[in-house]
Amino acid sequence: MTDVKELLLSRIRDVPDYPKAGVMFKDITPLLADPTAFTALTGALADLCVEHGATKIVGLEARGFILAAPVAVRAGVGFIPVRKAGKLPGATLAQSYELEYGNAEIEVHAEDLAAGDRVLVIDDVLATGGTAEASLQLIRRAGAEVAGLAVLMELGFLGGRARLEPALLGAPLEAL
Ligand code: PRP
Repeated sequence: MTDVKELLLSRIRDVPDYPKAGVMFKDITPLLADPTAFTALTGALADLCVEHGATKIVGLEARGFILAAPVAVRAGVGFIPVRKAGKLPGATLAQSYELEYGNAEIEVHAEDLAAGDRVLVIDDVLATGGTAEASLQLIRRAGAEVAGLAVLMELGFLGGRARLEPALLGAPLEAL
């Protein structure tokens, strides 16, 4: 294991039975509160932005914003928020997706993405892959290209990577 991976793992707290019984919540707040770990994380993500030739960063509400915004600043590219439905004031593209119970919808400002953009999507966790899959669909519907998807953590037992494979169209999925 690399030193960075070890540092990041050491700053993620397992919280049993949150938000409901049987769920082991991965709390990233200790990592965010540690400037060495947070700097290592944003540096690793900014390196991926350069490596994959991204010209824009999309962050997924809400925890994805915390990671994606400093990465955009470090990499010198624009930050585009993908928000839960009803939060963006301008003309949006919307994409709904299925949750375990019910549906969710995310949106992006249509004017924020266009042909010629290469977008790296950043989030904290890949779980079932539903949120990430919907974001990739939004980016392509806006005419932009997906440079990759980068997450801090992948919960492998939930099968998100397999679900995402068709939507990635060969773009890399990086889990730190
Ligand atoms: C969490 C997480 C990812 C998503 C992953 O967001 O931050 O965005 O779920 O789950 P999935 O792979 O099954 O789609 P959530 O909306 O729960 O919380 P947040 O607003 O606190 O980030």
